[in-house]
Amino acid sequence: MRRFETTTVGSLLIAALLAAPFSLIFSAPARAEEEKKVKSELHKKMELIDEGMKKLKRTLRKSDENPDSLKLIGEIIDNAKLCRDMTPTQADKLKDPERKKFLEEYRASMDKLLSTMELMKKAVAAGDNEKAKELRSQLKDMEDEGHDKFMVSEERDKAKAKDKDAK
Ligand code: HEM
Repeated sequence: MRRFETTTVGSLLIAALLAAPFSLIFSAPARAEEEKKVKSELHKKMELIDEGMKKLKRTLRKSDENPDSLKLIGEIIDNAKLCRDMTPTQADKLKDPERKKFLEEYRASMDKLLSTMELMKKAVAAGDNEKAKELRSQLKDMEDEGHDKFMVSEERDKAKAKDKDAK
């Protein structure tokens, strides 16, 4: 009987050890797949804007990098125009007339974002890097306001934690 118990416990241990690496191998792609599923097209475009804004933080410090800054701003504007015409995930949780109002306000905020981006482009083209840096910081504030108002709340909390060093 004792021998039987020892063998059973031993077999269970071996099974658990063998199963562990399999769960590690299979759970990582499953998690990545899940992340892919929840990312909306708007989310992906916003991530491209985010990458550009982070690079801009560095390039705006030096006026000899203004050609790079102008290229980055051009790409950011192109992506922001696409975002403006997309529909935030949160809108699907609403019904008219709230949904309509939500979308109008979203588009108005994106228009404000775009006009500030155009001002930043003009400032760089005129060699006024101090003004461009100030406008970049205003854009980061608009990002916070936009996310507070238009993003699904769980996603917003994650985004805030990630973005705390990018100001
Ligand atoms: C420079 C400004 C902005 C940047 C860098 C930015 C960046 C991002 C990023 C990176 C995400 C993905 C979530 C995450 O952080 O993981 C996101 C999502 C989102 N952003 Fe922005 N954002 C900006 C401005 C705005 C503005 C002004 C609005 C609203 C008018 C807005 C509305 C949203 C919404 C609604 C989502 C969620 C996507 C969805 O609903 O499917 N963002 N943004």
